[in-house]
Amino acid sequence: MKGQKKEVDLKDTVESILKIYNYEKKNLISILLAVQEKFNYLPKETMVIIADELKIRLIDVYSVATFYKVFSLKPRGKYVINVCIGTACHVRGGRKIVEKVQKELEIDVGETTEDKMFTLETVRCLGACALGPVMVINGEYHGQLSTQKAENILNQYRAKGQETIG
Ligand code: FES
Repeated sequence: MKGQKKEVDLKDTVESILKIYNYEKKNLISILLAVQEKFNYLPKETMVIIADELKIRLIDVYSVATFYKVFSLKPRGKYVINVCIGTACHVRGGRKIVEKVQKELEIDVGETTEDKMFTLETVRCLGACALGPVMVINGEYHGQLSTQKAENILNQYRAKGQETIG
């Protein structure tokens, strides 16, 4: 029963997004972005619905979803952490920040914590080299990091995440 309800919710959500974008194929990227914003990733079922409703092949929806790095086909955490390992950040200890976050969250790069709170990713440059080492969490920049500062920031997000869950 519960699974059925989830499916209905999912279908309703996708339908309402398709409606906003007039069921137009040319809006496929915007539709996928909006769906991802709702679910934090692109569940397979949503892509099936989109293909069906837009009358395009599922493979075409997949091609777009896998081409752009912004899309994730795997569940992601509430907070997506991107630690910069570009040259400017690397020379200022970016790698140490990655290791610290890995240790704190007990996950590797590309993984999500079991409680679905955090996903860890790395990037080559965040365009804020003067602030290195830098990490971005859900679009929020945190610069001039030390391992201690990174730990404190993670703790703040943990607390914030718990508040919104509770
Ligand atoms: S190299 Fe890290 S922000 Fe540019």
